[in-house]
Formats: sequence, C-alpha cells, structure tokens
Amino acid sequence: MSAITKIKGFADLFPPDSTAMLRMESAAREVFGRHGYQEIRTPILEKTELFARSIGEETDVVQKEMYTFPDRKGRSLTMRPEATAGVLRAYVENKVYARETVSKLFTFGPMFRYERPQKGRMRQFHQLNCELLGAEEPHADAEVVVMLWDFLGTLGIPDLALELNSLGCRECRPAYHEALKAFLAGLDTDALCEDCRRRMHTNPLRVLDCKVPTCKALVEDAPKITDHLCAGCADHFAAVREVLDGANVAYTLNPRLVRGLDYYVRTTFEVVSGAIGAQSAVAGGGRYDGLIAQLGGPDAPGIGFACGMERLALLLPPVQAARPDFYVAVLDPAGLTAGMLLAKGLRDAGLGGECAFAAKSMKSQMRAADKAGARACLLLGGDELAVGTVVIKNMATGGQRSVSRADVAEVARAVREAAG
Ligand code: HAM
Repeated sequence: MSAITKIKGFADLFPPDSTAMLRMESAAREVFGRHGYQEIRTPILEKTELFARSIGEETDVVQKEMYTFPDRKGRSLTMRPEATAGVLRAYVENKVYARETVSKLFTFGPMFRYERPQKGRMRQFHQLNCELLGAEEPHADAEVVVMLWDFLGTLGIPDLALELNSLGCRECRPAYHEALKAFLAGLDTDALCEDCRRRMHTNPLRVLDCKVPTCKALVEDAPKITDHLCAGCADHFAAVREVLDGANVAYTLNPRLVRGLDYYVRTTFEVVSGAIGAQSAVAGGGRYDGLIAQLGGPDAPGIGFACGMERLALLLPPVQAARPDFYVAVLDPAGLTAGMLLAKGLRDAGLGGECAFAAKSMKSQMRAADKAGARACLLLGGDELAVGTVVIKNMATGGQRSVSRADVAEVARAVREAAG
C-alpha cells in the first residue's frame, strides 16, 4: 500500500527544528513575561468575516491566501492566517477592556496562508505574536519595538535590521491618498501589474507594497507618507523615535513600508535579515487604532507584532542538544526488571536517561549508550545481579566503579559524579 504524505507547504518538525521552536517559545515567555505580557490562546478556526473585516478585502491575504471552506452546515470558516484578528475578537467578546485599561497579550502557534512555498515561506507556519491593547501613547509603541528588539537579541540572531515608518492616521491619510493617486495616474499605468492597476483605485497604498519589479521601479519617486503626516502623527512618530534612539535601537526609516495588512495606522515596523533570501522579514507589526471598534468593540487603540518562527529558526545559532545523564545497559536477561526499576529510581531522583529493553552483548550496549550521548553507562551483568551492585562507567574517561543498588540515592550521586 502506498504511504500517505503530508500536504505541500506543511512540515513535520523533528529535532533540532522542534527544539528550535521550544527555544523561541521559552525565550518569548521569559522576555514578554518580564514586560507584563500574559498568554492567550485562541482558536485556529474563526468565522471568515473576522479576517475579511480586519485584514482588509483588498489584501493578498484575504483575496488569495486564506484556507476558507464551508463547515457541515455551510458556514464559511477560515484557518487563521495571522493571530491579531483572533486575539482582538477574544478581547472584545470577553469584554477584557471592561476589566483593565491596558492589556498585554501574547500568543504563539500555527498560522495558515496559501502562498507559493519556498525557503522561509510555508503554508502552515508559526508566529510568536504580541498585542498591547488600550494604550495610544507613543511610549507604548516604543516599548513594543524595544521589546521585540531585545527578544531577538536574546535569541542571539546576528545582522538583523529594523525598518520603521509611520502610516499616518484617518486625519492625514486621505490627503496622502490623493497625492499618491495623482502620482499613480501620471504613470504609464499599462506598465503596472494587473493587481496594481486595480489597487491604484481601490487601495493605492498597496501599490507601494507590490513585489513585482516593474511596479517597484515605477513607484520609486512616489510621494512619501512621512512628508504628509498631520501634526499629531508627526509628534507621535518623533516621540517613538526619541525612545528608540535613547535605547540605542538602530533603525532605518522606510517610507515605503506599508505592510501587507490593511489595519495599520501610525507606527509600522519590520525586522529583516539578509541571510534568508527573498523572504527576508522575520517580524513585522504596527499600530492599529480603530480596528477594535471595527470588530464591534470599544474605540480602544492597539499595537503589536508577530515574528515568523520558521524564519527565525533558519537564523538561530545552533546549540548542543542536551545529553542524557545515564544509559542502563543490561547484559543478562534476568536483569531487565532490575534495570528498569533502577532507571525509574534515578529519574525520580531528577536524572535523565534510558534503559535497554532487551539484554545484549557489552559491545552493542556500549554502542547504544554512545548513540544516546549518555554521560554515564550503568552496567548490569550476571555478576552485578548476583551481588546487588551496578557498575557505573564514566563515558568520557572510561573510568568505572561498582556501587550497591540498594541505595538509589547513592547510585544517583555516583551517576552525577560520573556525568560531571
Ligand atoms: P505579517 O507581516 O503578515 O504580520 O506576518 C508576520 C511575520 O510572519 C512575517 O514577518 C514573517 O516572518 C511571518 N510569515 C508570514 N507569512 C509567512 C509564511 N507564509 N511562511 C513563513 N513565515 C511567514 C502579521 O501577521 C500581523 N498580524 C502582525 C501584527 C501583530 N501586527 C500587529 N500585531
């Protein structure tokens, strides 16, 4: 019978990839926790309308990339393409805003986008996601960006660059839209891709985000949003930058950074790496005042970001896998139960290791201990069984000593010593 394979763009994660995920999750819990973030877990499946209304009908994510299907009763459901919409839905639905004025929530897990798979781009991928809700002040933006930068620093990833922009607000953006539309109308529009010819009327900002090289070249001289900010947005942006400068977080201003989702206003940012090819953004985020109201909640402001875990995993410095403390090598079938019980006693004492399931020759047991990477090998042969001892062999030095099995604490001490 033929074997069943996984779906294209989905991955099975074995060590060291699964270990890399765990490292990122632990670092995230630690760093975000120190900033007052609490974990939230939301469903993977949501009503399609949630994403259409928040991410924006005109975005690639909603138009082309969502895993959307009717359930058995014909309701349209979507596998979350990102975490923000679900977190905000939960915030509104559970009236979290009524209990606390500022909420700091983080979450991580799988997201789904039907994109063309390539290095750093999967159809199921994982995000680490933070949302800071209820604070409109620029210092909230700054704290979020500095925290992201510190988090990436904790992971030890070299050569990352932070790009920063302000997208203005509902006050100043309409005038910018007009300036941009006028600029786009003056171009040879036939040279724009089909998507951009539509976007220039429906959502002109999206044209700045187009990855098609001809479109990119055509918008080189487009007006810059940062030249059109209202006084409020300009002050806000300046205050954010003041904190980043003070915290020595280096960034470049990128007026073309519009992000792929429609909900952003004011501060937006991305962290990019030159080391993973075309899919260079390892994290991105920004402010989305107005979105919570758009989802039926109060007019509460918000800002957040998400890191792409697969992309970060490509950049994580390797670490030595943890080695087990012991391997119990059973040389005589009569010793299998004693070996199992000894291993259990050692684990109960806080050590880690395994015991053979079958008695084998000394040579093959030593090979197994070596393969497991054990620091100490415990030998249980006929002689040891007869007198109630176990031989503890230090795998690094080859030195060995015999210890009574009657006192597990003593065996544990000897294993610890041999394991160094
Ligand atoms: P995003 O820029 O769409 O933002 O995604 C954030 C990160 O997820 C990207 O920078 C990238 O590292 C990773 N990513 C996206 N698509 C893929 C993919 N197909 N394969 C692998 N990694 C991918 C958001 O999702 C926003 N919700 C971020 C946010 C939170 N803004 C405010 N709060």
